[in-house]
Amino acid sequence: MGERGIGNCIGVVGLGLMGSSIIVSFLRAGYRVIALTPLLEELEIGTIRIREQLDLCAKMGLLPEKVDFFFDRYEVTADYGLLQQCGLVVECVIEIETIKKQVYELVEDHVFENTVIATNTSAIPISNLQKYLKYPQRFMGIHWAEPAYATRFLEITCGAATSVIIAEMIRDEAENWGKEPTLLYKDIRGFITNRLMYAVYREGFALINKGCISMAGLDKCFQHDMGAWVTLMGIFRRMDFMGLQDYLKTYHHLFPKLSNRQDVPQQMEEILEKGGRGIHNLTGLYPHTEDSVRKLEQDFSNFNEEIYHLSDRYRKKLNDLNL
Ligand SMILES: NC(=O)c1ccc[n+]([C@@H]2O[C@H](COP(=O)([O-])OP(=O)(O)OC[C@H]3O[C@@H](n4cnc5c(N)ncnc54)[C@H](O)[C@@H]3O)[C@@H](O)[C@H]2O)c1
Repeated sequence: MGERGIGNCIGVVGLGLMGSSIIVSFLRAGYRVIALTPLLEELEIGTIRIREQLDLCAKMGLLPEKVDFFFDRYEVTADYGLLQQCGLVVECVIEIETIKKQVYELVEDHVFENTVIATNTSAIPISNLQKYLKYPQRFMGIHWAEPAYATRFLEITCGAATSVIIAEMIRDEAENWGKEPTLLYKDIRGFITNRLMYAVYREGFALINKGCISMAGLDKCFQHDMGAWVTLMGIFRRMDFMGLQDYLKTYHHLFPKLSNRQDVPQQMEEILEKGGRGIHNLTGLYPHTEDSVRKLEQDFSNFNEEIYHLSDRYRKKLNDLNL
């Protein structure tokens, strides 16, 4: 690899749900963005979505300039040749390995040898995808939370062949994207947040299926216990805050009682057999209607806005204290 840094132009391949949100995140950070989609119908719809999300950012007070200032830095295309000007290209296409492979081949045909290439895959190991690249050392995972432009989460993952120096350079650069980036040096299945959440899902389903509590009851516990402190403290700072001595006894008593089942919970099997996609087809763990989904989406959008600003105020204080 030659010079460090990614310059001021970033490419994003895939203009779906996550792709458009990631594009807005980069625009918001002041980059020029080349948005690439092979789906011609998305050239227009995707662009409308970008404009709407930029308007939303403005409403949230996230843009230091007028919306046009950022929108003017956005270019949409189906031509891979335009990616040549990018120092970083983020792949955000449909979760099908063969399609991702085709995309990497096309990207590598058009970019310079030192352009960093990243994937937003949720589940495919980075080391598997990396095998499709001619220059695998410049490839890594960059995992976002939705909406990417209004969340601080950013998980960067090295594959077996990723250059740690390049991954660290991206982590440092991501500080300027309004993120709290983390770097995962080993390519572990599920990365960090999925592993943590699946441990919670396993225990949650086990408690429900033993008849200890209802699903709504368990959700209520999680929302109002962890939900009340986790954004501020994380889990280990919380342990210090509570005093560590009681944890030792609880470790001894509780660890042997926790679920270590390997099978998919029965409710999940049943819903997936019916083709359930939660709020997207009104078939999920809870009953949904079109009206309740609309309200939930609206509440989530409003909540995101408030928690982003709330956590920001405390984030600055914690950073100042070096905590
Ligand atoms: N937390 C996260 O970071 C997170 C969350 C959801 C999804 N994802 C991942 O992001 C990626 C995209 O997910 P999404 O929810 O935006 O999907 P989506 O279905 O909304 O969009 C997929 C996009 O892929 C592109 N595409 C489709 N066919 C293509 C082809 N043949 N060649 C090139 N591009 C093609 C299109 O632009 C399409 O909009 C997936 O890998 C998914 O696993 C990550």
